[in-house]
Amino acid sequence: DTACIPVICVDGPTASGKGSLAALTAQRLGYHFLDSGALYRVSAFAATRAGVSLDDAAGVARIARALPVQFEGDRVFLADEDVSEAIRTEAGGMAASKVSAHPEVRAALLALQHGFRQLPGLVADGRDMGTIVFPDAPLKIYLTASARHRAERRHKQLISKGNSTTIVRIQQDLEARDARDMSRPVAPLKPADDARLLDNSDLSIEESADQVIGWWQGTRPF
Ligand code: DC
Repeated sequence: DTACIPVICVDGPTASGKGSLAALTAQRLGYHFLDSGALYRVSAFAATRAGVSLDDAAGVARIARALPVQFEGDRVFLADEDVSEAIRTEAGGMAASKVSAHPEVRAALLALQHGFRQLPGLVADGRDMGTIVFPDAPLKIYLTASARHRAERRHKQLISKGNSTTIVRIQQDLEARDARDMSRPVAPLKPADDARLLDNSDLSIEESADQVIGWWQGTRPF
């Protein structure tokens, strides 16, 4: 019975900084960390590798159900292969967004995600952590940074990695992906009814983590 194992959900749109915030919060609390987006990214990557079309819901779900994925620190492995960089491209994000719209794929990844709920606790990063995967979580955060702020943040990251692109172009891509994630019929991106909204547009990661941990301390009965 995992109901007594605490989970903090951090959901929000693309490039909202939820990955960094969730990872830092997990580190500060000594909790496990689930990057659920990586599971969709690895599923899309593995499907393409196996010659399965991203439109083939049953085919991608078959792959997702038996996904040999491993996390080691911030590295992600598919079987023995380090796919950390390969899955984190913009194309990898778009491919993940596509396969994540198939209900069969979402169902296939559910047990894997639940397996991350281990003592002393879990911080889970995604789109539907609070609504679908861990609906009983005692603390749910939904990030609401504006598309402009998110585009600027992503732009800085890409430039520092030596990629050249414009903020306008990035903002268009972000908005296209948000639209797809919010309008899909299954598990659309939206705040859980009991989520706390956090606009981190003008907060550093540390300040955001302080807020989450402050809420967490207020949530706990001990
Ligand atoms: O968080 P991310 O950018 O790594 O996620 C990639 C895609 O995966 C995202 O566009 C939508 C999908 N996703 C999802 O549908 N549900 C999640 N819990 C996490 C990600």
